[in-house]
Amino acid sequence: MTDESSLFGAALKAAENSYSPYSKFRVGAAILCADGSVVTGTNVENRSFGLTICAERSALVKAISQGKRDFSAIAIATPDAAYPVSPCGACRQVLSEFFPPEASVRFGNSETSCVKTTMASLFPFDALHELAREGKEL
Ligand code: THU
Repeated sequence: MTDESSLFGAALKAAENSYSPYSKFRVGAAILCADGSVVTGTNVENRSFGLTICAERSALVKAISQGKRDFSAIAIATPDAAYPVSPCGACRQVLSEFFPPEASVRFGNSETSCVKTTMASLFPFDALHELAREGKEL
């Protein structure tokens, strides 16, 4: 069973596969699924710049494609930054589609110095999500 500190290790390892020739900024993400499996992803840049896919969305799209739907934690490793880099706004929105508010989120360049927070802190006031979870009509 993966604990959350080894989840960060998986994210660091995923960053080794980063395709980031433009920014030279490697990012790896590792998602802990409800069944105990871990799905990783990395950032995939594009020469158009705007079509770059972040590591978080790359991991989530992989997990959904594999049939996973329930997630409890995500770790995001940014080994090239001296300070913790948090997920961008687009990734927060996309993660919030599947991650419950209490899901654990950690990000940084090492397990010992990373920021440990929750989905609700990263993406507060997610009223539409709450309504959908409660099965209310929007
Ligand atoms: N990036 C991510 O993959 N996730 C983040 O949380 C921050 C930014 C990527 C996008 C781009 O390839 C590079 O990092 C620099 O912004």
